[in-house]
Order: sequence, then structure tokens, then C-alpha cells
Amino acid sequence: MPQQIIECEDRHSSGMYYKRPVVLVRGEGTRVWDTAGREYLDCTAGIGVAALGHAHPVVVEALREQANRLITCHELFYNDQRAALFERLNAVTPPTINRFFLSNSGAEANEAAIKFARAATGRTEIVSAMRSYHGKTFGALSATWGDDYRTPFEPLVPGFSTIPFNRLEKVPDAISDNTAAVLIEVVQGEGGVRPATTEFLQALRMTCTERGALLVIDEVQTGFGRTGRLFAFEHHGIVPDILTLAKSVAGGLPMGVTGFGDTIGQLAKLSHTTTFGGNPLACAVAQRVIAHIVDTDLPSRAAEQGQRLVDAIRTLPTSQIREVRGLGLMVGIELKQPAGEAARNLMDEGILVLLAGPKVLRLLPPLIIEAGDIDQIATALGKVLK
Ligand SMILES: Cc1ncc(COP(=O)(O)O)c(C=O)c1O
Repeated sequence: MPQQIIECEDRHSSGMYYKRPVVLVRGEGTRVWDTAGREYLDCTAGIGVAALGHAHPVVVEALREQANRLITCHELFYNDQRAALFERLNAVTPPTINRFFLSNSGAEANEAAIKFARAATGRTEIVSAMRSYHGKTFGALSATWGDDYRTPFEPLVPGFSTIPFNRLEKVPDAISDNTAAVLIEVVQGEGGVRPATTEFLQALRMTCTERGALLVIDEVQTGFGRTGRLFAFEHHGIVPDILTLAKSVAGGLPMGVTGFGDTIGQLAKLSHTTTFGGNPLACAVAQRVIAHIVDTDLPSRAAEQGQRLVDAIRTLPTSQIREVRGLGLMVGIELKQPAGEAARNLMDEGILVLLAGPKVLRLLPPLIIEAGDIDQIATALGKVLK
């Protein structure tokens, strides 16, 4: 049966993904199970999506309830669940961010941000960072780093340039009077789990303000508690003009959010729209997920457990690790050799992990992870990296 499923997917899927030879069919909490009933500790969480873990009652109940009431309702009409989500988003974001464009993915959240920045400033140039990842639609891809992703689809959108990440001295020359926006991650995820320095982010903030450019912070991966604060920019004493969110906002349902405020001004009606964005099903789940993250202080838990995880990894008796880095429960383990084999061996040990570049193991477990889970990860890592 698993072989049939694998062959079917291999025959008919786009072929865009490197797939691991396991068929996952069920999840609960931090665990997922395959067709043979084998249990895995899930440190991928759908690439940082399942902040509350799998089959969390808050998510399941919201879904069940709303599915029975109303699944689709275009923003052409008003809706109670969407209004409740807007209120919730407004309550948790800085006061300068009080409007939200709802979409269905991280790339879409960034597409909207890029378009809004151009429309608001009347400028065309967008600056992003080397090693950044903002998605793979044309606008987002134009800001994303990496020839493998970009070259097959050139020419990309004009007006994009890059700045070396964390290179403070490059900031003044990178942002000009023609810059519409700087688009930046607070911790580069796909780029290898690399936290930005406070000095770099503050310099970007200051220079954007001086030159009339907008600062767009991409918290698609870091948002909603993963780094130990509700939003990662809170670690650095800065506030963005536009904030992009996705992944964990709706407990596993597709949703992207582009938050902005008065600096953007009034956008032309219908200049950016989406059919599925803001559907009541995703909104019903998202507002309850955000409430749960805040009410149970999951960001503090992420900070605590993340530190425990990093400490456990740093004390492993192995010479294969070059560096352990990250923030909260966004953890990267850079090895001295390619990390693919270690990821495969960890799967054999019942731990699912991600890669972030050729040599980095990336762990994005659900924020509900417990101390016992962390001990299990450390034991498996110790064995695999012996
Ligand atoms: C920081 C960041 N931005 C944008 C994206 C793109 O999101 P999506 O894959 O939902 O389009 C990702 C996805 O990993 C991401 O990590």
C-alpha cells in the first residue's frame, strides 16, 4: 500500500519536490504516523506551520464548527469570522499596523507587500538580502536569493537588488531615494537559520525612514511565537511598515497576511485581490489559534524549550557539528559535511527534520514540544552524529 501511494505520487505529481520515502497519514501533538503505524517526532511541522502541533482541539473544533456554518464568503461581503480575525491581528501587531490583506501563502503575502510598497511610494526599487527566501512567485522570487531558483525563470521582475545580510556598512549605499522598500527576514530560514543582528536591523530601519523607503519584515516563518517572541522583530526594538505572515497563523490551513498602516495610504480598489483570501474557514481557525498562542504564552515556552534544545545539542559528544544557531524553536545545526545523510538517519531514528542549505539541519518543531521530546531529539542526534 505505501509503495502504491509513492508510485502514484511519483507518476502524477509535479516532480518539484525531493520526497522522502514515507507516507504520513495521521498526526497528533508533536507526533505523526506512517501507513505502517510507525511514529515520528515531527520537527518539520509542515515547515513551521503546525505551531500547536497536529490535531490540536482548538484547530479541530474551530474547523468543525465553521465548516458547518460557512466555508466560503468572498471579501465582497462582510463576515463575522473575518472581522474577529482582523480584530485579533490588530490587537497583537504594533499600533502602526492596523490593516490586513488576507491571502493564502507566504509568497502571496510578500507579493502584496511588494505591490503595496510600490504603489505607496511611487518608487520601483526593492532591496532584499543575500541568502534570503521570500517565496517563488515572480515578485517574491525576484527578492529571493539563489541561482537554482531564479535562473530557469528569468527575466525576473526589474528593480530588485540585494544587500549582504548583517553587513552594517553596506546599508547606507543599498537604500536610495528610489527605494520603495527593503524586504528582510529577522532570522533567515531557508538561507541556513541565520539570525540578523540588532545593529543591522536598526540600521535598515533608520535608513528606510531617512530615505522615505518602507521596511517590510517577512515573518512568514518566524511569526507567532517561533523565535520566543510573538514576532521576531520584537527582539530588536524595531517596527516594520509592512509585516508579512503565513505558515503558523491558521494552525495548518493556508493563509497569508500582509499587515500595514497609514504609511501605505489608500490603495486603489481592486488593485490587488484574491478569491480564497480571508475565507471564513481559515479565519475562524486563525483567530482561535492566535488567541491560544497568546493566552497560553507559547512564545515564552518556545524561548525556554528552544534554549533547552540548543543547550542539549551543544553538549553532544560529537566533532561533526560546526555551529548551532537560531532563536527560540527555530534551530539550525550546521555540520562539517552535507546534512542529507544525517537527516535520513534521523528519520530512521524516528525524528523528522528539515534541511536549510546543503550542510544545515533545521528543526522547526511544534511550539508545544515538551522536555521529554527534546531529550529524544538529543539522544537521536547523538547517535546519528557519533
Ligand atoms: C521567510 C519566508 N518567506 C516566504 C516564504 C514563502 O511561503 P510559501 O511557501 O507559503 O509561499 C517562506 C517559506 O518557507 C519563508 O520561510
